Amino acid sequence: MTLIDILAASIWLMLPAYIANPMAAVFGGGTPMDLGKYFPDGRRILGNGKTIRGLAAGTACGIAIGLIQIGLAPRLIASGVLDNWPLFHGALGAYSLSTLSIVFLMAFGALLGDSAESFIKRRLDLERGAMFPVADQLDFVLGAWVLTYIFAACWFNTYFSFWIIVTVLVATPLLHLATNILGYLIKVKKEPW
Ligand code: CTP
Ligand code: MG
Repeated sequence: MTLIDILAASIWLMLPAYIANPMAAVFGGGTPMDLGKYFPDGRRILGNGKTIRGLAAGTACGIAIGLIQIGLAPRLIASGVLDNWPLFHGALGAYSLSTLSIVFLMAFGALLGDSAESFIKRRLDLERGAMFPVADQLDFVLGAWVLTYIFAACWFNTYFSFWIIVTVLVATPLLHLATNILGYLIKVKKEPW
């Protein structure tokens, strides 16, 4: 097992969730998910940063990347290039047409986790876009995991072994920061976090 192997396996497994989150930022806007409503504490339920279009487009993009993965997996396995990458090879079995619903759970769960974080941020009186370290980087990972665990615990336990979980938790904040700085530079995001 090499670092590159476990990293590749982790990214493959997380890809529908990894894509959903930034694509919500690219395509989001319009009607907020909370419909502009306020919570009893006098603050917005989620805020204007969580929109219906962002949720729908992010989920759709997550499913689209999942379909590409489903198409690629048998080719990668057949090509034999992964003979020295046992973990990545194993992860390729995660997404197939029979587990298409799990692709949805990963993408949708990521955005639910992101919205849950906004809910908590609003309760803590943090404005839209305010930095909330660690949660900003891992909200969507936890959302994806919670949803797949609820509806497909067996699948989750098969693919998310202890070391894959550790790798995702360490690598995601770094990847997230890198993509957000990129998003900020190309003006898709207002803050570089
Ligand atoms: N976005 C969206 N719909 C979603 C998620 C994100 O439209 N369900 C868009 C919004 O334009 C949002 C941007 O993506 O501003 C960046 O997302 P994020 O950083 O999660 O939102 P913030 O604006 O930082 O708001 P919050 O403080 O609630 O996290
Ligand atoms: Mg933010």
